[in-house]
Amino acid sequence: MAGLGVGLIGTGYMGKCHALAWNSVASVFGDVDRPRLVALAEVDADLAARKAGELGFETATGNWRDVIDNPAVDVVSVTTPNAFHADMAIAALQAGKHVWCEKPMAPRLADAERMRTAARQAGKVAAMGYNYIQNPMIRHIKALIASGAIGAVNHVRVEMDEDFMADPSALFYWKSEAASGYGALDDFAVHPLSLLFVLFGHVEAVIADMVKPYAQRPLASGGQRSVENHDVASVLLRLEGGISTVLMANRSAWGRKGRIALQIFGSAGSILFDQERMNEFEIYQTGDISGGQGFRKVLAAPEHAPYHRFIPAPGHGLGFNDLKIIECRELIAAIDGQPSHLIGFEDGLRIERAIHAMARSFEEQRWVRVEN
Ligand SMILES: NC(=O)c1ccc[n+]([C@@H]2O[C@H](COP(=O)([O-])OP(=O)(O)OC[C@H]3O[C@@H](n4cnc5c(N)ncnc54)[C@H](O)[C@@H]3O)[C@@H](O)[C@H]2O)c1
Repeated sequence: MAGLGVGLIGTGYMGKCHALAWNSVASVFGDVDRPRLVALAEVDADLAARKAGELGFETATGNWRDVIDNPAVDVVSVTTPNAFHADMAIAALQAGKHVWCEKPMAPRLADAERMRTAARQAGKVAAMGYNYIQNPMIRHIKALIASGAIGAVNHVRVEMDEDFMADPSALFYWKSEAASGYGALDDFAVHPLSLLFVLFGHVEAVIADMVKPYAQRPLASGGQRSVENHDVASVLLRLEGGISTVLMANRSAWGRKGRIALQIFGSAGSILFDQERMNEFEIYQTGDISGGQGFRKVLAAPEHAPYHRFIPAPGHGLGFNDLKIIECRELIAAIDGQPSHLIGFEDGLRIERAIHAMARSFEEQRWVRVEN
């Protein structure tokens, strides 16, 4: 397959992460043609031009529709704030481009449904940026569970915590706007849900509580603005097959920097994983010798595919941006018609339905079934 023509909309935190992935995927994997970085869009032409230089794109524009209209662009990375995803992804799909869209799909469920419909109608690959499912440790944990290594799973706990909104004096920005969604649910809970989805299947029912630690935040221009969504969510869930699950998400948790802590309890053992120590997991197995039972730490190694594509030596470790490179390779596989390990708009919509069910459950103070 000829190298894909790439368009990028947005060059912030995630835009740079996508650009690094597009720049690196051919070198890391060695089995795909080098993508051509065709066009990049930002909010104004000057910023776009500067970023195109830094990130290696051929052309730059202050109008994202130029990226969609460019005939040399085959696939569009959408890495703008949540409120823009639907318009940009749908326009790209309708123009016959593949789409790689950051999470969540869209703040409004109706828009996420429109995105799914556009993907179906276009017949193009429409993938979500659920990078944590790409961790070789997570893939290996999935294989271990499937092999019966910890027996039948009966209870799961997952916590996602960071502290970038813990400071009451942190400035108001788009993540606190209702237009960007429900806060901790759209921003954080969707990530643990992506892990639960690949490990155990869909969510059947939820009951949620949410907290707004700070009612107001300062504006860069002076004064204060009311915070329009919640930074903390605590949720009980029933997963497919009845697995009882607890999910907690907090983006104002001082001291937590990138925690996604999974505890998986089965009839013959347990598995522990935390994204803050993303190159290891712990496993306890009842079959270990009597007196020798205990949690065993397993370090990431070339046996945990595709770790070997990055480093031949065990225990040296991958990083956050490497997960995006793996995701990019999966996207190219999907575009090439090969089997791939991605969450597309079809399953992405199930995750959106789960968070909207959580929000409704909080509003109505009751369990809510998730439409699947
Ligand atoms: N997958 C992950 O692990 C992960 C991590 C962080 C953020 N995200 C998601 O990525 C998306 C972006 O978040 P971020 O943290 O990178 O935000 P950011 O604020 O760092 O970057 C957003 C960029 O989009 C640009 N932008 C805004 N409107 C635009 C427009 N109309 N046209 C072109 N460019 C425009 C902004 O100027 C900015 O550079 C969000 O949806 C967020 O939820 C995903």
